[in-house]
Amino acid sequence: MTDVETVAKRRVRKAETGEREKGARESSTLQLRPARIPDATQIVQLIARYANRGMMLHRPYGEVLENIRDFVVAVDRGRVVGCGALHVVWDDVAEIRSLAVAEEYAGRGIGRAIVEALVVEAERLGLPRVFTLTYQQAFFEKLGFVVVDRETLPHKFWKDCFKCVKFAYCDEVAMARELE
Ligand SMILES: CC(C)(COP(=O)(O)OP(=O)(O)OC[C@H]1O[C@@H](n2cnc3c(N)ncnc32)[C@H](O)[C@@H]1OP(=O)(O)O)[C@@H](O)C(=O)NCCC(=O)NCCS
Repeated sequence: MTDVETVAKRRVRKAETGEREKGARESSTLQLRPARIPDATQIVQLIARYANRGMMLHRPYGEVLENIRDFVVAVDRGRVVGCGALHVVWDDVAEIRSLAVAEEYAGRGIGRAIVEALVVEAERLGLPRVFTLTYQQAFFEKLGFVVVDRETLPHKFWKDCFKCVKFAYCDEVAMARELE
């Protein structure tokens, strides 16, 4: 079992407990695991829900496939209800990106579980730091991230930013978390 799966099992327990407390009739099959190729379509669709509202960047199908090993997914009864990716940018930093939890599953600890699983993976890789660009400052603060000057992010990171329609007027907050 990978580190991601181990941490996922531990973290998802909280989400399952939340579901039981909400009185769900069917027992939950909520599972957090590394993404697989057949998940790619649902990942694109989940991200699109928020990207269509300008809350995050779209990820085209081909890009998700190429980076499928970056992704962790939360799955309930075969449905992808959460996703997030860890993308190595340089030898000392990776980006946490494409984080999304379906609205009907919000507030159950799934977002936290995904980020923690990605952090464990970053630590396994030997990275000292992860960062994210986000509108969800309060959420990431709860997970130990602090606001940083975006100028401190590695130059290689900007190659993705150049592709973004918001490049000239980006209002996302840069946040980072130092790792053990
Ligand atoms: C942001 C998002 C990933 C949170 O997922 P979630 O599963 O609902 O979050 P969790 O239940 O794991 O919340 C973890 C903690 O953060 C808090 N939190 C969640 N969303 C929050 C928000 N928008 N603002 C402030 N706190 C938030 C929760 O209350 C919880 O706090 P607690 O541990 O003290 O109880 C989800 O709302 C989402 O997909 N948003 C739209 C897409 C998006 O903006 N993605 C981020 C792109 S970088």
